[in-house]
Amino acid sequence: MRFSEAQLQDLNDRFERADTAEILGWAWETFGERAAIGTSFQGAGIVIMHLAHEAKLPFPVFTLDTGLLFPETLELKKRLEDCFGISIEGLVPGQSVEEQARVHGPELWKRNPDSCCTLRKVEPLQARLRSLDCWITGLRRQQSDTRSSTGIVEVYEFDAVMNREIVKLNPMAGWTREAVWDYIKRHKIPYNPLHDQGYRSIGCIPCTVKRGEGEAERAGRWIGFSKTECGIHTFMKKK
Ligand code: ADX
Ligand code: SF4
Repeated sequence: MRFSEAQLQDLNDRFERADTAEILGWAWETFGERAAIGTSFQGAGIVIMHLAHEAKLPFPVFTLDTGLLFPETLELKKRLEDCFGISIEGLVPGQSVEEQARVHGPELWKRNPDSCCTLRKVEPLQARLRSLDCWITGLRRQQSDTRSSTGIVEVYEFDAVMNREIVKLNPMAGWTREAVWDYIKRHKIPYNPLHDQGYRSIGCIPCTVKRGEGEAERAGRWIGFSKTECGIHTFMKKK
């Protein structure tokens, strides 16, 4: 499916005023199972899962399981599967952590986190996106400066050779952190207990540290590097 610039503009104008459930309903009508929710089970992702469940929209759900996730995150995956009666696909990298260490040296994340994220996150994501027309994310504008202009419906060039595009749907773009956590508490959705132990943004164990309330939402990721994005949101070119 291709959208003209005018159609995209109309959709975005409409969705800026719409409920998130209505945006998800549009995605299901338009793409069906070729739309999937990608989540690391942080606030916005679990809200999307809950909204989709309530509206009976059976989107596939996937997570990038780098092999370096916290046990609490893996446990949460199981709790969410039970809560919503679904199975969540774990997308695994081509190499285990040990194989990567043999080929690229141990603890690649300490020397070259971009390369590590490419191998463990970007490549498995790219492989899954090949069978999708719409990738639903939990990106929010308030998360960081680089995310402040996130659109609700965005179109990306996915495969220049095949001339293929993919829609990236960010239905939570306008949500504040407070609104996300109000929703989670109100609906008693299982969430990552690490959030109550001082972790704000939670990713792989070696690249996540605790950060306080007053700090930026994604402070605590890739400490000591200028890196602020793992690459999954920057590898494609926006149309
Ligand atoms: S990240 O760039 O640090 O990884 P962040 O944790 O803020 O991103 O998440 C932003 C959005 O990216 C999530 O809402 C989700 O859609 C997607 N995302 C991030 N990490 C993963 C993951 N491990 N698996 C699937 N999707 C992810
Ligand atoms: Fe590797 Fe860290 Fe990226 Fe995880 S977040 S894939 S450990 S560099």
